[in-house]
Formats: sequence, C-alpha cells, structure tokens
Amino acid sequence: MIDQAASLREMMLNNSLPQLNEENLVQGKKLNQARLIAISSGKGGVGKSNFTLNLALKLHAAGKKVLVFDADLGMANIDVLMGVSSRFSVYHVLKGEKRIQDIIQFGPHGLPFVAGGSGLIELLTLSEEDIHGFTSDLDRLSNEYDYILFDTGAGLSLENRRFIAAADECIVVTTPEPTSITDAYALIKVMHRHLSEPIPFSMVVNRAENRREAEQVSAKIGLVAKRFLNAAIPLLGHVSDDPHVMRAVKKQTPFTVMYPQCTASRDMERIAAGYMDLALPLTQNTQGFKGFINKWLKKTI
Ligand SMILES: Nc1ncnc2c1ncn2[C@@H]1O[C@H](COP(=O)(O)OP(=O)(O)OP(=O)(O)O)[C@@H](O)[C@H]1O
Ligand SMILES: [Mg+2]
Repeated sequence: MIDQAASLREMMLNNSLPQLNEENLVQGKKLNQARLIAISSGKGGVGKSNFTLNLALKLHAAGKKVLVFDADLGMANIDVLMGVSSRFSVYHVLKGEKRIQDIIQFGPHGLPFVAGGSGLIELLTLSEEDIHGFTSDLDRLSNEYDYILFDTGAGLSLENRRFIAAADECIVVTTPEPTSITDAYALIKVMHRHLSEPIPFSMVVNRAENRREAEQVSAKIGLVAKRFLNAAIPLLGHVSDDPHVMRAVKKQTPFTVMYPQCTASRDMERIAAGYMDLALPLTQNTQGFKGFINKWLKKTI
C-alpha cells in the first residue's frame, strides 16, 4: 500500500500544476479551501454515482469533511441512491428562495449532499451580478470542507467539460469494457488538449474481475496517454464487479452502508485509504468555490 501510494503520488505530481513546489503541497487535505474533485466518465452507466457516494462515505467515516454535489445536469440521482427525497436543489438558491446552506441535506451517517436539478443549467444563463451572491455563499461552504465531490454527467458535453476544467482534479471512472475504455480515453484526450491549466487526472476501474484486470485496463489507457498526450493517468484502484452493488441500489442504500463487508465495499475502503495517503497538489481554486464557478462559467472550451 505504501509503495503504491508513493508511486501514485509521484505520478500525480508529475502530471499536475506547473507551479508546484514542496511548500504548496497538502497532505491529502486542504490548506483552507476544499479540494474540488470532479468524478466523470466517457461512457454513461459505468458506476460514477455509486463510486462518488461510497467514496464520500468512506472519507466521511475516516473523519474528513466531505460534501457530495450532484452535478449531473441530465440525470441527477444521488438522492435516489440514498433513499433521501430532495426537496431543494441549487434551483431554489438561484430563485432566491433558499440559501446554499439550507439546501444541504444529509444522507446515511450524516453525509452532507446537495441534490442536483435543473438549476444548474440556469446557472449558465445568469449575469455576473446574480452569480456573485450565489458564489459568496458557496465560498463559505468551501472553507468548511476538506473535499467536495462532484458527480458529473458522462461524456463530452460542454457543461461536463467546463465542470472538469474548473475542478482541482478529475477521477475518471471506467469499466473493463472496450467501449467504456475508449470513451474514457476520449474524455481524457479532449480535456488534455483543451485545458489551459492542466489538472491531475486519475482513473478507477469499476466492475473489474480482479486487480489484475484493472491493471491491464489502466496500462492500456496509460500507454496511449503517455504516448499521445505525454500524461500520466495513475490508477487509484478498482472496484470489483459485485452483485451486492445492484442489491443495495434497489434498496436505495449505499452498498458500503448496506454490505460493509462485501468485496466492493472492501475495495472502496482501500481506494479511500490510498487517496487520503496521497500528498495532493494544492487546489488551483485559490478563490474557493467562487473561483470554481467563475472558471466553470467563463471557460471557453
Ligand atoms: N461495482 C459494481 N458491481 C456491480 N454492479 C455495479 C457496480 N457499479 C455499478 N453497478 C451497476 O451499474 C449501475 C449504474 O451505476 P451508476 O448509476 O453509479 O452509474 P453512473 O455512471 O452514475 O450512470 P450515469 O452515467 O447514468 O450517471 C448500478 O445501478 C449498478 O446496478
Ligand atoms: Mg450517475
């Protein structure tokens, strides 16, 4: 585990922001701003939402302050996966009916989350003035958390690309299926070509038969990424293909809560521990959430 964490760390750093130096490293946590993590995929249905939610729960259980933000503009469903009905979303904040603090809901074990909704699309049409009120609220939020995990939609839509570009890092989820692998690579390629400020990318192989299969998938993507993009895409880990996941989804309970000892839950434990072990590059969003939203809205990719 230590060796793996060390090499992951090295790869993340090699692939991260140019102005990095020893002083601006943080040991797996913020200095005073939350780390904004986009969790995305090329192909849909590969397990992003389940991964995001269960990673958040594991980090939360380890004592980190974590907020899950459902940023899937098309099919927001983090709340459904937790069996918590969401009465309020970003939409109500934009309408001026709620403050951002009021729309944070709590899932299993008190995990804070913000439900998705059509409000995010409206955000794209707001004036800078409107956004100002919204983002200063968000800024306060980002001082309170260590990690904010964004469950984004799949694919290369403009909204997704902007979301990823505005985050501090992106975890790309793929399955071992060739279609999922090629779409994951396409996402990484497009983002790398168009990002004005590079962010670290890493990969998780979901629904893997075993670690060996995940490493093979990782090697395939790693090879082309190195050759054509000169980028390292470290493997954060794999989550086994495990029938407990679907059973838990049907019960609207996260699998790490419902079946804490199942193979997929143990895999999540390993990934979360490895992730917290990483010395991550400093957040690029030195202006906190406000910086994130501004970047998101202004990015021209
Ligand atoms: N590790 C796993 N083992 C077995 N089945 C899984 C696993 N991960 C996900 N699944 C199955 O895949 C389904 C889709 O997962 P999920 O909703 O998390 O994908 P998604 O990438 O968020 O989809 P979308 O792109 O539509 O947002 C789950 O409902 C579950 O049945
Ligand atoms: Mg999803």
